[in-house]
Amino acid sequence: MYCGCFCFPKQRPFISTATLTEFELETEREMSSSTATHAYGEPSYWDQRYSEDPGPFDWYQKYKTLAPLFDVYIRRSHHLLVVGCGNSTLGEELVSDGYLDVVNIDISSVVVEAMQKKHEDKPELKYIKMDVRDMSAFESSSFDAVIDKGTLDSLMCGQNAHHNTSKMLEEVGRILKDNGVYILITYGEPSYRLHLLKELQLWTINLHVIDRMEKNPEQRAWELTKPLPLSKDGNSIADIIGSNAEVHYIYVCIKDETLIRQANVNAKPEAEESRS
Ligand SMILES: C[S@@+](CC[C@H](N)C(=O)[O-])C[C@H]1O[C@@H](n2cnc3c(N)ncnc32)[C@H](O)[C@@H]1O
Repeated sequence: MYCGCFCFPKQRPFISTATLTEFELETEREMSSSTATHAYGEPSYWDQRYSEDPGPFDWYQKYKTLAPLFDVYIRRSHHLLVVGCGNSTLGEELVSDGYLDVVNIDISSVVVEAMQKKHEDKPELKYIKMDVRDMSAFESSSFDAVIDKGTLDSLMCGQNAHHNTSKMLEEVGRILKDNGVYILITYGEPSYRLHLLKELQLWTINLHVIDRMEKNPEQRAWELTKPLPLSKDGNSIADIIGSNAEVHYIYVCIKDETLIRQANVNAKPEAEESRS
């Protein structure tokens, strides 16, 4: 099993390097160097990385492979937010494919300034320097979808990971409209992600999987647009796809205000009990 962040456990199962993606090879190289510990959680790490390597570079998956899934959950007219955009081409490809309103944020001023300059001619595409843990510049219930490719994962690699990821998810939940979607594309299997996503009692969750290596449609093991049956603890997924499956997980969290109201009602008697 893989660990919850980017890091490989010390005794990771053997996978032939021929089957690893560029990211995984890079991670392996970094993990075996002395500088890798917790670096992905630090803004200074990203500033330095983007100064040295302006990209473009896409983590995990590219727009082309994800587009059929986006078509299921988001509309061209939707107000979209890409969190931790880096120098990925996702934003510009969304716009080229007809999406009309794509806001991108990142904590690295180096990458945000570079992306602002690169795309200054595209009014549908905005880049803003912002910390995903504090998006107070955005109004509550203002976005139809939030797309996260590798950003929650990077916070999970840093210090105070639980605090930081909880803040991030609270903020994502706040800025989404009712029925808005948080699309989390991650390395993390359900045993490492589901409990975190469920803590907030904000959304219903669909889980999709996609092969880590791009394959021809006839060779694909999983149908991207069909969610897999997800048990409460998430164990159903390993039963279906096997442990150590070479996939990325895509958690589609659909905000549901009735769940939030229900959670508040359930919390009230407990609060009253503790006062009496
Ligand atoms: C693994 S990279 C993913 C980049 C891009 N989403 C992609 O798919 O290629 C993580 C990104 O999250 C950004 N990031 C890390 N912590 C952040 C935070 N607290 N707020 C906003 N962005 C953050 C980093 O600067 C980096 O660009």
